[in-house]
Amino acid sequence: MLRRFDSRGVKQAAPIGLFDSGVGGLTVLRELYRQLPHESVIYFGDTARLPYGDRSPAQILQYVREILTWMEQQGTKMVIMACNTSSALALETVRSEFSLPILGLILPGARAAVQQGRRIGVIATPATAASRAYSRAILEIDAATQVWEVGCPEFVPLIESDRLADPYTAAIAQSYLEPLIEQQIDTLIYGCTHYPYLAPILRQLLPPSVKLVDPAVSVIAAAAQALDLLVLKGVRSPVPTRFCVSGSPHTFSQLAAPWLGCTPVVEQVMPSHWVAQSTALEAVE
Ligand code: DGL
Repeated sequence: MLRRFDSRGVKQAAPIGLFDSGVGGLTVLRELYRQLPHESVIYFGDTARLPYGDRSPAQILQYVREILTWMEQQGTKMVIMACNTSSALALETVRSEFSLPILGLILPGARAAVQQGRRIGVIATPATAASRAYSRAILEIDAATQVWEVGCPEFVPLIESDRLADPYTAAIAQSYLEPLIEQQIDTLIYGCTHYPYLAPILRQLLPPSVKLVDPAVSVIAAAAQALDLLVLKGVRSPVPTRFCVSGSPHTFSQLAAPWLGCTPVVEQVMPSHWVAQSTALEAVE
Protein backbone atom coordinates (compact mmCIF):
# COMPACT_ATOMS: atom_id res chain seq x y z
CA MET A 1 0.00 0.00 0.00
CA LEU A 2 1.24 3.44 -0.91
CA ARG A 3 0.99 5.97 1.90
CA ARG A 4 -0.18 9.54 1.24
CA PHE A 5 2.78 11.76 0.60
CA ASP A 6 2.93 15.51 1.22
CA SER A 7 4.30 16.88 -2.04
CA ARG A 8 4.43 20.54 -0.91
CA GLY A 9 7.84 21.98 -1.66
CA VAL A 10 9.02 18.90 -3.52
CA LYS A 11 9.77 19.70 -7.12
CA GLN A 12 8.63 17.42 -9.91
CA ALA A 13 12.14 17.79 -11.28
CA ALA A 14 13.68 16.17 -8.17
CA PRO A 15 15.44 12.85 -8.88
CA ILE A 16 14.17 9.35 -8.21
CA GLY A 17 16.56 7.32 -6.05
CA LEU A 18 17.39 3.78 -7.13
CA PHE A 19 19.62 1.47 -5.14
CA ASP A 20 21.06 -2.03 -5.18
CA SER A 21 24.12 -3.79 -3.78
CA GLY A 22 25.87 -3.44 -7.16
CA VAL A 23 25.15 -3.51 -10.90
CA GLY A 24 21.92 -5.52 -10.53
CA GLY A 25 19.82 -2.37 -10.17
CA LEU A 26 20.91 -1.28 -13.65
CA THR A 27 18.35 -3.75 -15.02
CA VAL A 28 15.72 -1.66 -13.20
CA LEU A 29 17.33 1.59 -14.33
CA ARG A 30 17.14 0.40 -17.94
CA GLU A 31 13.40 -0.13 -17.51
CA LEU A 32 13.04 3.30 -15.86
CA TYR A 33 14.74 4.95 -18.85
CA ARG A 34 12.25 3.12 -21.11
CA GLN A 35 9.04 3.87 -19.22
CA LEU A 36 9.88 7.18 -17.51
CA PRO A 37 12.17 9.08 -19.89
CA HIS A 38 11.56 12.45 -18.18
CA GLU A 39 12.89 11.42 -14.77
CA SER A 40 16.30 12.26 -13.33
CA VAL A 41 17.91 9.49 -11.26
CA ILE A 42 20.43 9.04 -8.48
CA TYR A 43 21.72 5.46 -8.56
CA PHE A 44 23.52 4.00 -5.55
CA GLY A 45 25.36 0.66 -5.58
CA ASP A 46 26.51 -0.54 -2.16
CA THR A 47 29.44 -2.35 -3.73
CA ALA A 48 31.62 -2.22 -0.60
CA ARG A 49 29.12 -4.48 1.17
CA LEU A 50 27.85 -6.84 -1.55
CA PRO A 51 26.56 -9.46 -1.82
CA TYR A 52 23.50 -8.61 0.25
CA GLY A 53 22.12 -12.12 -0.31
CA ASP A 54 24.46 -13.61 2.31
CA ARG A 55 23.72 -10.96 4.94
CA SER A 56 21.46 -11.31 7.96
CA PRO A 57 18.04 -9.59 8.02
CA ALA A 58 19.35 -7.16 10.69
CA GLN A 59 22.32 -6.14 8.53
CA ILE A 60 20.17 -5.63 5.46
CA LEU A 61 17.70 -3.50 7.44
CA GLN A 62 20.56 -1.35 8.73
CA TYR A 63 22.04 -0.85 5.25
CA VAL A 64 18.64 0.07 3.83
CA ARG A 65 18.04 2.62 6.61
CA GLU A 66 21.44 4.20 5.91
CA ILE A 67 20.84 4.36 2.17
CA LEU A 68 17.35 5.84 2.55
CA THR A 69 18.65 8.48 4.97
CA TRP A 70 21.31 9.40 2.39
CA MET A 71 18.73 9.39 -0.42
CA GLU A 72 16.53 11.77 1.60
CA GLN A 73 19.52 14.09 2.07
CA GLN A 74 20.03 14.09 -1.72
CA GLY A 75 16.49 15.45 -2.17
CA THR A 76 14.98 12.44 -3.95
CA LYS A 77 11.19 12.55 -4.46
CA MET A 78 10.78 8.74 -4.41
CA VAL A 79 13.01 5.72 -3.85
CA ILE A 80 12.75 2.46 -5.77
CA MET A 81 14.50 -0.46 -4.14
CA ALA A 82 16.16 -2.00 -7.19
CA CYS A 83 17.09 -4.93 -4.97
CA ASN A 84 14.84 -7.89 -4.14
CA THR A 85 16.79 -8.74 -0.98
CA SER A 86 16.15 -5.26 0.47
CA SER A 87 12.52 -5.38 -0.72
CA ALA A 88 11.94 -8.79 0.89
CA LEU A 89 13.61 -8.03 4.21
CA ALA A 90 13.27 -4.31 4.87
CA LEU A 91 10.51 -2.65 2.82
CA GLU A 92 7.63 -3.11 5.27
CA THR A 93 9.69 -1.78 8.20
CA VAL A 94 11.23 1.26 6.51
CA ARG A 95 8.03 2.43 4.85
CA SER A 96 6.73 3.60 8.21
CA GLU A 97 10.06 5.23 9.13
CA PHE A 98 10.57 7.55 6.13
CA SER A 99 8.26 10.18 4.71
CA LEU A 100 9.11 9.66 1.04
CA PRO A 101 7.36 7.06 -1.15
CA ILE A 102 9.35 3.81 -1.28
CA LEU A 103 8.63 1.03 -3.78
CA GLY A 104 9.89 -2.56 -3.76
CA LEU A 105 9.96 -5.40 -6.27
CA ILE A 106 8.20 -8.31 -4.56
CA LEU A 107 4.52 -7.38 -4.92
CA PRO A 108 4.83 -6.06 -8.51
CA GLY A 109 6.80 -9.21 -9.43
CA ALA A 110 4.26 -11.51 -7.77
CA ARG A 111 1.35 -9.77 -9.53
CA ALA A 112 3.06 -10.08 -12.91
CA ALA A 113 3.84 -13.77 -12.35
CA VAL A 114 0.28 -14.85 -11.46
CA GLN A 115 -0.87 -13.31 -14.72
CA GLN A 116 1.52 -15.62 -16.55
CA GLY A 117 1.25 -19.05 -14.94
CA ARG A 118 0.18 -21.44 -12.18
CA ARG A 119 3.44 -23.30 -11.46
CA ILE A 120 5.86 -20.53 -10.55
CA GLY A 121 9.58 -20.87 -9.91
CA VAL A 122 11.60 -18.12 -8.23
CA ILE A 123 15.38 -17.84 -8.42
CA ALA A 124 16.72 -15.46 -5.79
CA THR A 125 19.52 -14.71 -3.35
CA PRO A 126 19.70 -17.02 -0.30
CA ALA A 127 18.29 -14.22 1.92
CA THR A 128 15.32 -13.57 -0.38
CA ALA A 129 14.56 -17.28 -0.85
CA ALA A 130 14.78 -17.91 2.92
CA SER A 131 12.35 -15.03 3.58
CA ARG A 132 9.71 -16.75 1.39
CA ALA A 133 8.51 -13.23 0.49
CA TYR A 134 7.61 -14.22 -3.08
CA SER A 135 5.70 -17.36 -2.00
CA ARG A 136 3.67 -15.35 0.51
CA ALA A 137 2.91 -12.56 -1.95
CA ILE A 138 1.93 -14.96 -4.75
CA LEU A 139 -0.24 -17.20 -2.57
CA GLU A 140 -1.99 -14.18 -1.12
CA ILE A 141 -2.98 -13.12 -4.65
CA ASP A 142 -3.92 -16.65 -5.79
CA ALA A 143 -3.91 -19.50 -3.28
CA ALA A 144 -4.31 -22.08 -6.08
CA THR A 145 -0.86 -21.26 -7.47
CA GLN A 146 2.19 -23.40 -6.64
CA VAL A 147 5.53 -21.73 -5.92
CA TRP A 148 9.09 -23.07 -5.63
CA GLU A 149 11.90 -20.77 -4.51
CA VAL A 150 15.57 -21.58 -5.07
CA GLY A 151 18.46 -19.67 -3.44
CA CYS A 152 21.34 -19.13 -5.89
CA PRO A 153 24.34 -18.00 -3.79
CA GLU A 154 26.90 -18.05 -6.61
CA PHE A 155 25.12 -15.94 -9.21
CA VAL A 156 25.77 -12.42 -7.83
CA PRO A 157 29.53 -12.95 -7.18
CA LEU A 158 29.86 -14.43 -10.70
CA ILE A 159 28.04 -11.49 -12.32
CA GLU A 160 29.89 -8.87 -10.26
CA SER A 161 33.22 -10.43 -11.28
CA ASP A 162 32.24 -10.36 -14.96
CA ARG A 163 32.15 -14.14 -15.41
CA LEU A 164 28.99 -14.47 -17.54
CA ALA A 165 30.93 -16.18 -20.35
CA ASP A 166 32.67 -18.63 -17.98
CA PRO A 167 31.34 -22.21 -18.58
CA TYR A 168 31.20 -22.57 -14.79
CA THR A 169 28.35 -19.99 -14.72
CA ALA A 170 26.24 -22.10 -17.12
CA ALA A 171 27.00 -25.26 -15.11
CA ILE A 172 25.95 -23.70 -11.81
CA ALA A 173 22.83 -22.25 -13.50
CA GLN A 174 21.90 -25.75 -14.61
CA SER A 175 22.19 -27.06 -11.06
CA TYR A 176 19.97 -24.24 -9.70
CA LEU A 177 17.32 -24.73 -12.41
CA GLU A 178 17.17 -28.53 -12.26
CA PRO A 179 14.74 -28.81 -9.29
CA LEU A 180 12.47 -26.20 -10.89
CA ILE A 181 12.46 -27.96 -14.27
CA GLU A 182 11.65 -31.23 -12.45
CA GLN A 183 8.58 -29.51 -10.95
CA GLN A 184 7.51 -28.54 -14.49
CA ILE A 185 7.26 -24.83 -13.77
CA ASP A 186 5.52 -22.74 -16.42
CA THR A 187 6.85 -19.37 -15.19
CA LEU A 188 10.18 -18.23 -13.70
CA ILE A 189 10.65 -14.98 -11.76
CA TYR A 190 14.00 -13.22 -11.74
CA GLY A 191 13.95 -12.81 -7.94
CA CYS A 192 17.20 -10.81 -8.01
CA THR A 193 17.87 -7.78 -10.17
CA HIS A 194 21.26 -9.15 -11.20
CA TYR A 195 19.73 -12.21 -12.89
CA PRO A 196 18.36 -10.67 -16.13
CA TYR A 197 22.05 -10.49 -17.15
CA LEU A 198 21.87 -14.32 -17.21
CA ALA A 199 18.93 -14.35 -19.63
CA PRO A 200 20.79 -15.97 -22.58
CA ILE A 201 22.10 -18.78 -20.33
CA LEU A 202 18.78 -19.38 -18.57
CA ARG A 203 16.83 -19.33 -21.83
CA GLN A 204 19.05 -22.11 -23.21
CA LEU A 205 18.54 -24.29 -20.15
CA LEU A 206 14.78 -23.83 -19.68
CA PRO A 207 12.06 -25.52 -21.74
CA PRO A 208 10.92 -22.95 -24.36
CA SER A 209 7.40 -22.84 -22.89
CA VAL A 210 8.61 -21.38 -19.56
CA LYS A 211 7.83 -17.66 -19.33
CA LEU A 212 10.41 -15.38 -17.70
CA VAL A 213 9.11 -12.58 -15.48
CA ASP A 214 11.26 -9.53 -14.74
CA PRO A 215 9.71 -7.61 -11.79
CA ALA A 216 11.56 -4.47 -12.97
CA VAL A 217 8.90 -3.95 -15.64
CA SER A 218 6.04 -3.90 -13.14
CA VAL A 219 7.81 -1.94 -10.37
CA ILE A 220 8.50 0.89 -12.84
CA ALA A 221 4.88 0.76 -14.05
CA ALA A 222 3.82 1.04 -10.38
CA ALA A 223 6.25 3.95 -9.91
CA ALA A 224 4.72 5.73 -12.93
CA GLN A 225 1.23 5.35 -11.43
CA ALA A 226 2.40 6.58 -8.03
CA LEU A 227 4.12 9.63 -9.53
CA ASP A 228 0.89 10.51 -11.38
CA LEU A 229 -1.17 10.07 -8.25
CA LEU A 230 1.18 12.22 -6.18
CA VAL A 231 1.54 14.85 -8.93
CA LEU A 232 5.29 14.27 -8.91
CA LYS A 233 5.91 13.15 -12.47
CA GLY A 234 8.89 14.78 -14.21
CA VAL A 235 7.91 16.76 -17.27
CA ARG A 236 11.20 18.18 -18.62
CA SER A 237 14.42 16.71 -19.96
CA PRO A 238 16.15 14.88 -17.12
CA VAL A 239 19.68 15.67 -15.95
CA PRO A 240 22.23 12.86 -16.52
CA THR A 241 22.01 10.02 -14.01
CA ARG A 242 24.29 10.44 -11.00
CA PHE A 243 26.02 7.12 -10.26
CA CYS A 244 27.34 6.63 -6.71
CA VAL A 245 28.95 3.59 -5.06
CA SER A 246 30.38 2.70 -1.67
CA GLY A 247 33.23 0.65 -3.20
CA SER A 248 35.47 1.19 -6.21
CA PRO A 249 34.08 3.69 -8.77
CA HIS A 250 36.40 2.29 -11.44
CA THR A 251 35.24 -1.33 -11.04
CA PHE A 252 31.59 -0.29 -11.15
CA SER A 253 32.13 1.94 -14.16
CA GLN A 254 33.87 -0.86 -16.11
CA LEU A 255 31.23 -3.44 -15.27
CA ALA A 256 28.31 -1.09 -15.97
CA ALA A 257 29.58 0.21 -19.33
CA PRO A 258 28.36 -2.66 -21.59
CA TRP A 259 24.89 -2.56 -20.01
CA LEU A 260 24.57 1.22 -20.21
CA GLY A 261 26.14 1.58 -23.64
CA CYS A 262 28.55 4.22 -22.29
CA THR A 263 31.17 4.45 -19.54
CA PRO A 264 29.51 6.24 -16.61
CA VAL A 265 31.21 8.77 -14.35
CA VAL A 266 30.95 7.25 -10.88
CA GLU A 267 31.40 8.91 -7.46
CA GLN A 268 32.35 7.15 -4.27
CA VAL A 269 30.09 8.00 -1.33
CA MET A 270 30.49 6.13 1.94
CA PRO A 271 29.90 8.19 5.08
CA SER A 272 32.41 6.96 7.66
CA HIS A 273 29.71 6.20 10.27
CA TRP A 274 28.25 3.55 7.88
CA VAL A 275 31.47 1.58 8.08
CA ALA A 276 31.75 1.98 11.85
CA GLN A 277 28.14 0.84 12.38
CA SER A 278 28.50 -2.11 10.00
CA THR A 279 31.61 -3.31 11.81
CA ALA A 280 29.90 -2.99 15.19
CA LEU A 281 26.88 -4.96 13.94
CA GLU A 282 29.05 -7.70 12.49
CA ALA A 283 30.85 -7.97 15.85
CA VAL A 284 27.63 -8.67 17.79
CA GLU A 285 26.32 -11.27 15.33
N1 DGL B 1 20.47 -7.47 -6.77
C1 DGL B 1 20.04 -7.67 -5.43
C2 DGL B 1 18.73 -8.41 -5.33
O1 DGL B 1 17.89 -8.20 -6.18
C3 DGL B 1 21.09 -8.04 -4.41
C4 DGL B 1 22.01 -9.15 -4.74
C5 DGL B 1 23.09 -9.39 -3.70
O2 DGL B 1 23.85 -8.45 -3.40
O3 DGL B 1 23.17 -10.49 -3.17
O4 DGL B 1 18.47 -9.13 -4.42
